[in-house]
Amino acid sequence: MRMSRWLKRWLSGRPRLRGVALALRRRLRAASSAGGHWDARVHAVESGAAAGWLDSELIEREYIRAQISGDRQVDYLRHFLRRHVRDPPVARALSLGCGGGNLERALVDLGATERIDALDLSEESILLARREAEAAGIAGRIDYRVQDIDQLELPAAEYDFVVAKMALHHFQNLEHIYDQIDRALVPGGLLMFNEFVGPSRFQWAPGQLELMNRLFERLPKEIRKRAPYTRIYPRAEEDMIATDPSEAARSAEVMPLLRQRFDVVEHKPYGGSLLHIVLADVMDQIDPSSESHRSLLRSLCEFEKAQIDSGALASDFAYVVARKQAAGA
Ligand SMILES: C[S@@+](CC[C@H](N)C(=O)[O-])C[C@H]1O[C@@H](n2cnc3c(N)ncnc32)[C@H](O)[C@@H]1O
Repeated sequence: MRMSRWLKRWLSGRPRLRGVALALRRRLRAASSAGGHWDARVHAVESGAAAGWLDSELIEREYIRAQISGDRQVDYLRHFLRRHVRDPPVARALSLGCGGGNLERALVDLGATERIDALDLSEESILLARREAEAAGIAGRIDYRVQDIDQLELPAAEYDFVVAKMALHHFQNLEHIYDQIDRALVPGGLLMFNEFVGPSRFQWAPGQLELMNRLFERLPKEIRKRAPYTRIYPRAEEDMIATDPSEAARSAEVMPLLRQRFDVVEHKPYGGSLLHIVLADVMDQIDPSSESHRSLLRSLCEFEKAQIDSGALASDFAYVVARKQAAGA
């Protein structure tokens, strides 16, 4: 966070206030580390208070599930288990960037694995995940640990599958992480992720940004009124890094680097190239029981899908399953 020249001059005549401002700035800097950022955010994410496009039940059922499983009743996780995990429960699984732990609890609930190890950089997330697993009576099946995944070192041939939900796009050291996952999977083991794979650091192409604004400006006023902006502006990389240094660090490289090391066995792009940003700060103004709001969401999905199908836009989100390559492949 930079202090304006005017503010510096004004504070220089007020030494006590300047001290307070510097302390505040130091605290904000600490919070702008990836771990600090997610320590502060995890409760809002887990409670649903930080709602985004992925939290809309209509979008989830009618748009995302329709594209991933083809069945509105079947989400990506059940689809993955039905299609790829032959004889559950497997002995051991691993989850990367687990946050507050909702994915691991679901995997245990669904009978997918006997045990799961789950790692995240944010201490607060790991504390919350442990508390939730204890409350659910499944703490003995999940080993939550604080770990910087960019420095990951894994044992060989340990896991039947590795999962990541909205996490790989936060990692810097993707080549090393993919190599570690490859090493840690048993022969034929799988990596499954559900991820943002769009432009790194949200550096949208001008055409994509223009389409976002076209949609945003057409949202009814009652829906956009609480958004703290009237237009969607390009993001400066330095501002992105100052807020969360892990956000979309190398998201555009998640798929190309995966293909170099694994056999991709299922790849379902499911959009988000416009909706992710257009709906980012307005979801709490959308009433899921209002027919006009429901039809608005449907037309936004249709518009985005048409742009992606025509090739004008790439899909920014994807569900992917990849298999460890056979030795010597
Ligand atoms: C968008 S959240 C997703 C959390 C969880 N998978 C979910 O879907 O609820 C991204 C997570 O990545 C974690 N993260 C970011 N950089 C990391 C790193 N280098 N090592 C481990 N975790 C990291 C954050 O702490 C955060 O919990």
